[in-house]
Amino acid sequence: PTPLWLDCDPGHDDAFAILIAAHHPSLNLLGISTIHGNASLEKTTTNAGSVLEAIGKPNIPVYPGSHKPFSRPALHAPDIHGESGLDGTDLLPKATRPPVTDKNAILAMRDALLAQPKGTPWVVATGTLTNIALLFATFPEVVEHIQGLSIMGGAIGEGFTDAPMSRLAGEKSRIGNVTPWAEFNFYCDPESSESIFSNPVLASKTAIMALDLTHQVLASQAIQTRILHGSIHSTEEPTILRQILHALLTFFAATYEKAFGLTTGPPLHDPLAVAAILSTLNPAFANKHPNQALVFDDKGGERFALSIVTDGQHGKDVSITGQLGRSVATPIDGPGVAIPRGVDLDAFWNMVLQCVQLADDC
Ligand code: BDR
Ligand code: CA
Repeated sequence: PTPLWLDCDPGHDDAFAILIAAHHPSLNLLGISTIHGNASLEKTTTNAGSVLEAIGKPNIPVYPGSHKPFSRPALHAPDIHGESGLDGTDLLPKATRPPVTDKNAILAMRDALLAQPKGTPWVVATGTLTNIALLFATFPEVVEHIQGLSIMGGAIGEGFTDAPMSRLAGEKSRIGNVTPWAEFNFYCDPESSESIFSNPVLASKTAIMALDLTHQVLASQAIQTRILHGSIHSTEEPTILRQILHALLTFFAATYEKAFGLTTGPPLHDPLAVAAILSTLNPAFANKHPNQALVFDDKGGERFALSIVTDGQHGKDVSITGQLGRSVATPIDGPGVAIPRGVDLDAFWNMVLQCVQLADDC
């Protein structure tokens, strides 16, 4: 299995990213670090422990990371994820294993990654990028050592895809989900985001799952039913885990409808960053498992120079003129960031449902 470290801010879609990372038979989840984002660090850490307990993987260690960006206050998203960061169900268990606090999260990531053979481990980031920026700035040897970095974040726009959901609620001028231009994870800590993409060696190993892609991956009613019952036809009482996952999606669907008028189901952003490791974006996996690899559309290896706008203050100028946190992607010949434009949706959902079944069986 491919080793990976997951940095996350659970978070409804982060919870599904954890489930896939922990249960997919081709992945070996080394550990989780948590980050401020959808809710405070304290809450995202509690939520990560609860999710691991619920999915039957309580022994995967959770390390609390950064409370805030270096140069800005932390922002949260209670309108999307509720006050706890993971609202919608009372069935989530408490973690039986407390978060690890006798070792710093950044050191834990470094040690776990360097303990794997060179060129094998992946880092997956589904939250604000403060921890990830610290990791690579503090320990540059980790840049050389990893196989890849997969990030959920950013919004490209300008006809990047033809997908109808790439713009929320059909507003043509709006490509972001927190301002007209900016996606939440990059907006929360634009300086950390920029520090990653301005490192050419790291950028050449990085793939980002931008909103243009993730807004195509909607957890429709039919998907929600399959998550609850395993199949559309089952008449059995759903297990507690399936009830939890279904309740999380129901809550997430309701907040997306309220915030964005979206009635076709919420985008399941974060699992795509894990799925990238199991896909054609990861040649090491795709060459070894040609029949299993998910097909992402990266236009035959298209690469970009990416920069993140860091001018501006949170909450100031959130109109169309405000650019803070915007992702500016320029196609380049040669090494750069991969930004897939599409994914085989059926294969993606089948993979998610397979992992839910594995979690349910364990
Ligand atoms: C991202 O922001 C968070 O609210 C989600 O968990 C996801 O990582 C989408 O913009
Ligand atoms: Ca997230």
